[in-house]
Amino acid sequence: MTENRKERQREKYRAADPAEGPLTTDQGVAVDHTDDSLTVGERGPTLMEDFHFREKMTHFDHERIPERVVHARGAGAYGYFEPYESCAEFTRAAFLQDPSVRTPVFVRFSTVQGPRGSADTVRDVRGFATKFYTSEGNYDLVGNNMPVFFIQDGIKFPDFVHALKPEPQNEIPTGASAHDTLWDFVSLQPETMHMMMWLMSDRAIPRSFRMMQGFGVHTFRFVDARGRGTFVKFHWKPKLGVHSLVWDEAQECQGRDPDFNRRDLWQAIEAGEYPEYELGVQLVPEEDEFNFDFDLLDATKIIPEEQVPVRPIGHMVLDRNPDNFFAETEQVAFHTGNVVPGIDFTNDPLLQARNFSYLDTQLIRLGGPNFSQLPVNQPVAPARTNHRDGYHQTAIHQGTNYSPNSLGGGCPAIAGADGYAFSHYAERVEGHKIRKRSESFKDFYSQAALFWNSMSAWEKRHIVDAFRFELGKVGAVHVRERTVDQLAHVDYDLASQVAQGIGVANPEPGAANHKPQASPALSIDNLQGDGS
Ligand code: HEM
Repeated sequence: MTENRKERQREKYRAADPAEGPLTTDQGVAVDHTDDSLTVGERGPTLMEDFHFREKMTHFDHERIPERVVHARGAGAYGYFEPYESCAEFTRAAFLQDPSVRTPVFVRFSTVQGPRGSADTVRDVRGFATKFYTSEGNYDLVGNNMPVFFIQDGIKFPDFVHALKPEPQNEIPTGASAHDTLWDFVSLQPETMHMMMWLMSDRAIPRSFRMMQGFGVHTFRFVDARGRGTFVKFHWKPKLGVHSLVWDEAQECQGRDPDFNRRDLWQAIEAGEYPEYELGVQLVPEEDEFNFDFDLLDATKIIPEEQVPVRPIGHMVLDRNPDNFFAETEQVAFHTGNVVPGIDFTNDPLLQARNFSYLDTQLIRLGGPNFSQLPVNQPVAPARTNHRDGYHQTAIHQGTNYSPNSLGGGCPAIAGADGYAFSHYAERVEGHKIRKRSESFKDFYSQAALFWNSMSAWEKRHIVDAFRFELGKVGAVHVRERTVDQLAHVDYDLASQVAQGIGVANPEPGAANHKPQASPALSIDNLQGDGS
């Protein structure tokens, strides 16, 4: 077993043990009394010179930071990742070469829509974000528990999230996703249909973070030592299988124990029942890019496993709870742009937008440009940069800080693209500057239908019930009707069952312009429920 370099690094940051000495101020001055302010006489005014009072109160006043704009509620854990065998054939990423090398990880699971204090078991997407502290720097796989996304181009993300979040005039509702603005957006933006099918399925109410899949969603790129690229989709598969709550259980949990998923993760790790996940990849040679009836750059599409099987490449075990929720789970900063040599991007317009958004939001959420120095975010690989100063700078830099530089001192040399430095994949691109969605992104319904057709009878019933419950709360009748019309493009029977449950007319027979594919090609066979 390799030494856990992240654990050793964390040791350096532990605050002094309060049991080992007297209470002090931030300046280390021992305090004689912390229960009464310094006043003039027993009943007189409080004195400005009471520095202990002022420091205590000021620090308290500044304890909160902004919550994440999405994925605000989460729970995290440390662990490790081990590859099963070398992946050198596809990628030169150091952490995927040697089965004897353990790479430390931090994982944060989350809901998307609710604020920090919301309940765990709401109908929602779950985040599944993993930070690998590799020997070549941090690699973040910032995924979800569903393999597709609502939108195809990141420029729609602010619109989507504004529609998803509580309505602006009254912040109603929180938790469940049912409200007019979300369904208005969905019914006007049919690319959301595939993801909405997943969201209305039992996948949106996982029983446990330990029983949940994870997906990188986008098509990424592996790059080998010779610079050859291979398209890759990432899959996490839980060792315990995929299990969901049923809706009534989920509702009851929200009332009885809003921390249901968070508590389950914490207690399992404390009890030594370590959550374990297998990492799998779907690999597509670059020359096969156009061999699919969908676009690999379209994040609303899966690659059916019948076409490209998932190949297991390693496993991850979560074996340590954080010591401090704020310091670690709250301050962790994942970013799709954190990649290491051997892993690269594609031109998926959703991924490209994310590569801008995460760093940008963290600059405000974590108060400036130095949050990579926070213990949970620090790489175990040495960080030698010319970046200087800024709020919350904790490093004592030495020497010069510019490049090129003939005076030496602190200025790091440039590694060059000689095997261990990151060099961007040399993809050839050409074209006019335009704002236009590719025609290859325009099939919104085939995979939504594929999903529906792959469901068992009881899974279909749960989906219909979910649509009825959520859509049934929408006040605007035309939004309900328009959503039913969209569903008719997915499956007429689904649309008419939903229509009957929410008091709108059946769509016109034949409204579905898409003929569902016969083969239930989607592999969701391990989804378990009570079948009722
Ligand atoms: C969190 C933006 C799509 C997974 C966030 C955050 C932002 C964001 C701003 C908060 C980050 C922070 O404060 O640290 C976006 C944008 C997207 C997008 C602009 C589309 C253009 C996605 C997709 C996935 C995803 C497709 C899954 C594949 C996550 C996860 C988190 C997150 C897991 C929580 C990370 C954590 O636990 O700290 N996203 N997101 N996002 N996003 Fe996205």
